[in-house]
Amino acid sequence: MELINLMQKRRSIRKYSGEKIEEGKIEKILQAGFLAPRSRAALSWEAVVVRNEEVLRKMVNCRVGTGQMLKSADCAIVMLGNPLISDVWIEDCVIALSNMHLAASSLGVGSCWIQGRNREAENGMTTEEYLRELLGFPEEYKLEAILSLGMPGENKDEHELVSFPAENIRVIRG
Ligand SMILES: Cc1cc2nc3c(=O)[nH]c(=O)nc-3n(C[C@H](O)[C@H](O)[C@H](O)COP(=O)(O)O)c2cc1C
Repeated sequence: MELINLMQKRRSIRKYSGEKIEEGKIEKILQAGFLAPRSRAALSWEAVVVRNEEVLRKMVNCRVGTGQMLKSADCAIVMLGNPLISDVWIEDCVIALSNMHLAASSLGVGSCWIQGRNREAENGMTTEEYLRELLGFPEEYKLEAILSLGMPGENKDEHELVSFPAENIRVIRG
């Protein structure tokens, strides 16, 4: 299948069946992260892979309003970046996590991006402080986002290819 068709099929899946994700699929999803381009070839990100049910359920409250998918998730990948390693750690994290989200879809695993940076937890802490306390990651690592994962418990239509909106795409021809 062409990559464009995989991209059409990728959707944010927030409901999970409860079936376990095979460990080999999690490994491939992480490999997809390592295959992402990175500024100056430096590895400025770290991922915390959570497969512990008790910890996953505590993570539900890491975001005001939008952590509910973690109630039935089988796994969460918490993306952290280190500004001391790269000044563009945000871009490094986002590209790697985006690869993982797409790879998950290609393997039949449902996933959804949960924004972490600049967001708050249910208890008034920042999402970063909440997860740092729960997961114990070091001060120099900043939270970018979380990918919740599980075998799909919902079906969504694939995206249609669009005709380019003129205001978003400006082509300059010779
Ligand atoms: C940077 C970013 C932040 C997002 N944050 C959240 C979030 O906090 N909660 C959530 O449910 N979905 C979040 N999403 C998923 C989007 O809502 C979703 O991609 C969008 O609605 C399009 O739907 P699709 O992914 O099914 O194509 C986020 C996506 C991105 C790229």
